[in-house]
Amino acid sequence: MLYIVTCATPAARHVGTLVDLAQRAGWTVCVIATPSATRFIDEAALGKQTGYPVRSEYKQPGAPDVLPAATAIIVGGASFNTINKWAAGISDTLALGLLTEGIGLGLPLVALPFLNAAQAAHPAFDRSVQELRQAGVKVLLGDKGYTPHTPHQGSKNLPHYPWDKALKAIEALR
Ligand SMILES: Cc1cc2nc3c(=O)[nH]c(=O)nc-3n(C[C@H](O)[C@H](O)[C@H](O)COP(=O)(O)O)c2cc1C
Repeated sequence: MLYIVTCATPAARHVGTLVDLAQRAGWTVCVIATPSATRFIDEAALGKQTGYPVRSEYKQPGAPDVLPAATAIIVGGASFNTINKWAAGISDTLALGLLTEGIGLGLPLVALPFLNAAQAAHPAFDRSVQELRQAGVKVLLGDKGYTPHTPHQGSKNLPHYPWDKALKAIEALR
């Protein structure tokens, strides 16, 4: 059971590509969106594609779990914001709750960022990437993943966004 977490970046519009790749590789997939990412995705289409509702909010206290438990999680495109909050142990969205707990549960965790070079140059970003890597998260940057784009030019990279590298990385961790 693979959870694909997606954040509020233009890459989220294409997260169905990763769903498709993962399903072809034999995974059962659920999509979790950050609340802000719901503005970028077609929840109905992803629900149809996966067979599970897209979740973006914590359930009501006492309500049953809607989704089966994850055995692995990919975050793609992982936003600057969610990467920094994940590393800092912030858990104020369902996505971050799953990701922060995922470290403690020892789940295979892969992050494929989608951010620009100005965001990546902020000192918090390197710190967050290092902390996540130390905690066992495979963060895919540079040749092995995503090279931050020139600000305002991210859409040019979307057709070549390396969803396949995220899937290969999670399979290598299995
Ligand atoms: C049109 C648009 C494009 C954006 N592109 C990016 C992006 O490529 N990478 C990024 O990290 N944030 C991007 N942002 C900013 C995030 O949406 C913002 O930081 C948001 O708070 C992230 O929330 P989340 O991490 O909970 O998904 C973009 C915002 C908008 C409105």
